[in-house]
Amino acid sequence: MLNMEAIRADFPILDQEINGQPLIYFDNAATTQKPECVIDAIADYYRHDNANVHRGVHTLSHRATDACEQVRDQVQHFINAPDRESVIFTQGTTDSINLVMQTWGLQHIQAGDNILLTEPEHHSNLVPWQMLAEQVGAELRTLPLLPSGALDLSGLDRLIDEKTRLVAVQHMSNVLGTLTDVDTIRQAARAKGALILLDAAQSIPHLPVDVQALDIDFMAFSGHKMLGPTGIGVLYAKREILETMPPYRGGGAMIKEVWMDRFTWGDLPFRFEAGTPNMAGIVGLGAAIRYLDKLGLEQVLAHEQTLLRYALEKMKSIEGVELYGPEDIRHRGGIVAFNLKGVHAQDVGELLDQQGIAVRTGHHCCQPLMRFYGVSTMVRASFYIYNTHEEVDRFVDALARTQRLLQRRQSRRNKQEQKV
Ligand code: ALA
Repeated sequence: MLNMEAIRADFPILDQEINGQPLIYFDNAATTQKPECVIDAIADYYRHDNANVHRGVHTLSHRATDACEQVRDQVQHFINAPDRESVIFTQGTTDSINLVMQTWGLQHIQAGDNILLTEPEHHSNLVPWQMLAEQVGAELRTLPLLPSGALDLSGLDRLIDEKTRLVAVQHMSNVLGTLTDVDTIRQAARAKGALILLDAAQSIPHLPVDVQALDIDFMAFSGHKMLGPTGIGVLYAKREILETMPPYRGGGAMIKEVWMDRFTWGDLPFRFEAGTPNMAGIVGLGAAIRYLDKLGLEQVLAHEQTLLRYALEKMKSIEGVELYGPEDIRHRGGIVAFNLKGVHAQDVGELLDQQGIAVRTGHHCCQPLMRFYGVSTMVRASFYIYNTHEEVDRFVDALARTQRLLQRRQSRRNKQEQKV
């Protein structure tokens, strides 16, 4: 069991009122809040150790280099990567996926090849592949969604064939919370020689992820959704694949030797880390991993699923709530997407904000998924380690109040319309 009191005391931002009510932060799938230790690690880095990495013989440069390279080791252990060179620091999930698209993708995907994507995929794991497909003349295929909110895997053997080069799939839906059955997809991909890219932006912060057990080829995630700072992320790739990949961006640090008309590729992992890296971001990510490791990711998932079960049960009692996502929460993270019948999600979000509750509204960077459900927007509440049952109680009460208020507003409007 997580010690909620101790955890909440670590997050200074939670101790405030919004519109006269204690803040309830339920927008964790967008970005998480930062514990004091992460904020301190970044400030301490700038106060005591800041210098450019891999470029100086002076003490500060050594300290900064050691601090960043230790975080590479931490990430390696956190995801159980076999090699530290398989851990590439990027700006975030989107950057990691674009890196794969621009390097391995352009090298290996040609006209007539195909890429398999999924219907609930986030735009950041759709658009880069659409750009590549257009550029090289490849075909895009879609693994469809079932009304239950799970992926329909029944057509996998038909959708993946000898021309499939890549299956790009999310580990957890940022809208429905659905956890992907990676093993089944990987087996189908391997049978035809396709590689797998896993978008783990939403899973890494919430459950143990082991890249060797999953046996995927690429994995992307962001620091800011796992208590770390913005602007830092990771690409994991199997070493033997990375070895053959050309550089992504050109500049300092990614070379071995440069002449006026050419350069030779740098070694791993620096080949993919051109320019001065986000050193403070890397150090902050290290502090976030330490914090999560101390809690234990199994505990984190158990806590969120308890909140999820509690929230779903309570929300069902509100008239007019349309819930999206799988009923079986064993295969689902702590995310609740919903709409109130006949009401725009933005109105719900604004009224919840007036009661101190932060949720996300909109298409959640998943427009194909919105089309599947025949809506343009949804409200999304997403939980994390510092959220409590009391907050869920307050949220559900606020939602019921919002529903009553909007119904009254609508019936007033209807009456006015009847008069004119
Ligand atoms: N991908 C983030 C979200 O789902 C921004 O909100």
